[in-house]
Amino acid sequence: MKNTQSEKIIDGKAVGAEITEEIRKEVLEFSMTRKPPGLTVVIVGEDPASQSYVGMKVRKAEKIGIRSDLIEMPADISEGYFLDRIKKLNDDEDVDGILVQMPLPSHIDQQKVIEAIAPSKDVDGFHPYSLGRLAADKPTFVSCTPLGITVLLKKYGVDTKGKKVTIVGRSLIVGKPMALLLSGQSDTGNATVTICHSRTVDLKDATIDADILIAAAGQPYMITGDMVKEGVVAIDVGTTRVEDPTRKKGYRLAGDIDFDSVYPRASLITPVPGGVGPMTVTMLMKNTLLAAKWARGMPDESA
Ligand code: GUN
Repeated sequence: MKNTQSEKIIDGKAVGAEITEEIRKEVLEFSMTRKPPGLTVVIVGEDPASQSYVGMKVRKAEKIGIRSDLIEMPADISEGYFLDRIKKLNDDEDVDGILVQMPLPSHIDQQKVIEAIAPSKDVDGFHPYSLGRLAADKPTFVSCTPLGITVLLKKYGVDTKGKKVTIVGRSLIVGKPMALLLSGQSDTGNATVTICHSRTVDLKDATIDADILIAAAGQPYMITGDMVKEGVVAIDVGTTRVEDPTRKKGYRLAGDIDFDSVYPRASLITPVPGGVGPMTVTMLMKNTLLAAKWARGMPDESA
């Protein structure tokens, strides 16, 4: 995969668009003889970043022929009411995939909500059932951001077998499933994986040897050029909004990687924005189609 800007820059926007087009065609074919896939996105509260993400998800679904529904709930909704609403979506045959945008307000137990979603509709891949299946190398829904990263690595010819991978961040959304994918037995796995987090004593010691570095800690510019080895494949999952009066919106998106100092040492690097982000939405479409396939009795197929 080449792009015009720079041979070193991984163009997630272009790859995302290419795969979205493939999914669109598949959805069209699927829907000729079956009920089209349906995605329900749920958001609680008014966090601007979350609202922007769910808007992108719903619009993308509609654009490619996936029925989509956005449920918006006030930030003070009770946990009990919320869990009841999830149960209703589980029982609704028109809903193939359920996505609850994270994070949730602190009075709602996030894990309880994740576990309330039927595993057959868990297009985010956050349910313990999905994560357990992933750990066992079995077909399942895989969390969209890590899945998108494996697709990017494959597209750019990065072989993970036997490579040293360091993941910074141990979240349920990115770090943990990413480690399972890359250490699993598949053509996008078989790597030797190190996970770092806030209690890691010497971060540089863990990053400096990495062939592939995945930064997913939500700390702007924490990975600097002196922390990586020459030739590293640098994947930036960070998307923190940082105030910037020079921008029309008043903010810019900051990655976890200090692009300017890491770029000269990297063999490949994802920009922010336009790297990993577009892949997350695309993989959600893939997972929703997969949910519909499984719901309509089509054979098992890995995400
Ligand atoms: N918040 C940040 N990333 C994600 C994601 O991939 N899924 C959900 N549901 N919430 C998120």
